Amino acid sequence: MLLSLRNASLTYPSEVAVTALREVNLDINRGEMIALVGASGSGKSTLLAILGLLKRPSDGEYYFDGRPTRHLSEGELCHLRNRRIGFIFQHHLLLPELTALENVALNQILTGRDSWKNAREKAAKLLSALGLENRLDHHARQLSGGEQQRVAVARALINNPDLILADEPTGNLDSENSRRLLAIFRSLFGKGDYTLIIATHSQQVARICPRLLVIRDGVVSDESQPRLALARASA
Ligand SMILES: Nc1ncnc2c1ncn2[C@@H]1O[C@H](COP(=O)(O)OP(=O)(O)OP(=O)(O)O)[C@@H](O)[C@H]1O
Ligand SMILES: [Mg+2]
Repeated sequence: MLLSLRNASLTYPSEVAVTALREVNLDINRGEMIALVGASGSGKSTLLAILGLLKRPSDGEYYFDGRPTRHLSEGELCHLRNRRIGFIFQHHLLLPELTALENVALNQILTGRDSWKNAREKAAKLLSALGLENRLDHHARQLSGGEQQRVAVARALINNPDLILADEPTGNLDSENSRRLLAIFRSLFGKGDYTLIIATHSQQVARICPRLLVIRDGVVSDESQPRLALARASA
């Protein structure tokens, strides 16, 4: 089992405390491709933040690769995030004054994982696969929303993470670029060792994922079985 949540809850302590996740029990195997759907405010981004070790549950336990995470230090969490997890955020947080290529390559160089030359080559390859071969040297601030989103996708994939967490990755993309991105996800999925969890409002994205998690007001239910039954019934 790659990821397990046991009775995990998260309450945001604001003036009016909001319980964004309620006693979630969830097991995710290596190699799964999962769509996470639910209304705005239902808790999708919060769940991804917990699975990505960006937030800790306020109650319950999260096991990453069989290890409880409660007692890990910030440094250990950071190490795991850097080595194992690729995030595609809802807000893509690129560095506006760097080029597309530099945004993608930067972390590889800062963490000493690649030489400048290798990192640039890998970044150029990923960006080209996402249809940005003519934008490599443009500053991030000069790119459209959808172009920036694709740069963020390339940045998430460059260190070859085995867990990819994507928060509405096709939110700003037109249908051609959504198709490109889904093709990349699918090709990763086909390789078997990647685990992809995609929060989405898009039916098109949800349809290509073999497993479907639905979240309603912080409660997660696994609706893969009813969906498969429905597909069989209508086949
Ligand atoms: N930092 C925060 N402080 C207080 N409440 C928060 C915070 N972040 C999120 N919430 C609340 O927690 C709930 C879940 O938020 P979350 O961002 O996980 O929803 P979501 O399903 O990702 O929504 P969307 O589809 O709009 O992105 C919401 O009611 C939200 O208002
Ligand atoms: Mg969200």
